[in-house]
Amino acid sequence: TRPLKVALLGCGVVGSEVARIMTTQADDLAARIGAPVELAGIAVRRPGRVREGVPTELVTTDATALVKRGDIDVVVEVIGGIEPARTLITTAFDHGASVVSANKALVAQDGAALHAAAEQRRADLYYEAAVAGAIPLVRPLRESLAGDKVNRVLGIVNGTTNFILDRMDGSGAGYSEALDEATALGYAEADPTADVEGFDAAAKAAILAGIAFHTRVTLDDVHREGITEVTAADIASAKRMGCTVKLLAICERAADGRSVTARVHPAMIPLSHPLASVREAYNAVFVEADAAGQLMFYGPGAGGSPTASAVLGDLVAACRNKLAETTGPGESAYSRLPVSPMGDV
Ligand code: HSE
Repeated sequence: TRPLKVALLGCGVVGSEVARIMTTQADDLAARIGAPVELAGIAVRRPGRVREGVPTELVTTDATALVKRGDIDVVVEVIGGIEPARTLITTAFDHGASVVSANKALVAQDGAALHAAAEQRRADLYYEAAVAGAIPLVRPLRESLAGDKVNRVLGIVNGTTNFILDRMDGSGAGYSEALDEATALGYAEADPTADVEGFDAAAKAAILAGIAFHTRVTLDDVHREGITEVTAADIASAKRMGCTVKLLAICERAADGRSVTARVHPAMIPLSHPLASVREAYNAVFVEADAAGQLMFYGPGAGGSPTASAVLGDLVAACRNKLAETTGPGESAYSRLPVSPMGDV
């Protein structure tokens, strides 16, 4: 069988881990896919700054030329942000590639258009890594629970803010000290404002609500409040009441089933609740469905290796589909429930 060619766009905390695992686990990946997978090029902005272990002979600064090559089977986008990621992804579809992306901001904003572009070209768009790092959530919602009716998705979906709140609660660390530590550990976004102001969690809430309720939800639909106003005094008083403070994302279907809401805000959680014991950069998400009942997904929600794990899972799926000349689940069957960001819940 012919080798499948992969282009990697971005080689930071996540991308360098993807490149490393693709190289070190090449035989296992080939066995699972049924064909060898070859890293054909790595597009970066600053070639002088690629991490150790990244094959420098594959590095280019011309991402557009890489996705236009015409022989690329799967493009892995781990650049983040709206542009140039959006243009590169649509160019990749135009040139016959499937796309694996970790880009929550882009999927939350333009998921509908990107899915339409993928479907038109009979290509795949996968983004397990966009939500809650290593935790499988997108695929369970899109596939495992496709025959059930999901009513609520609720949980902690941002590792950086959970890390900060955990440090403030546990060791009494200051806010900025804890943020610096989260950044050094590779949890925070390039601009940590997206984390602490709740934009990152809101993007994830939009993606989760969209796939859980088979409707379109964008970042603008999500009511958002971050953790910048949470003080040490708030945390101390929560503690006195037997609680801790967590940044929650809450997506719900209205009781009448005719609309959905999504919101992100800090909340007091009783210490007896499982969410209270989610430490450091871990994430935890509850999914409530009619037939399944309550499910809990828990695991590392941020960082290079956990996020790379989700990217590689998607890469295997996209490569298998390429070989089988098929595509994964598309997004055409939407009920298009209206979204009311501040609806009664
Ligand atoms: N900055 C994100 C977080 C990375 O802290 O959760 C994972 O999406």
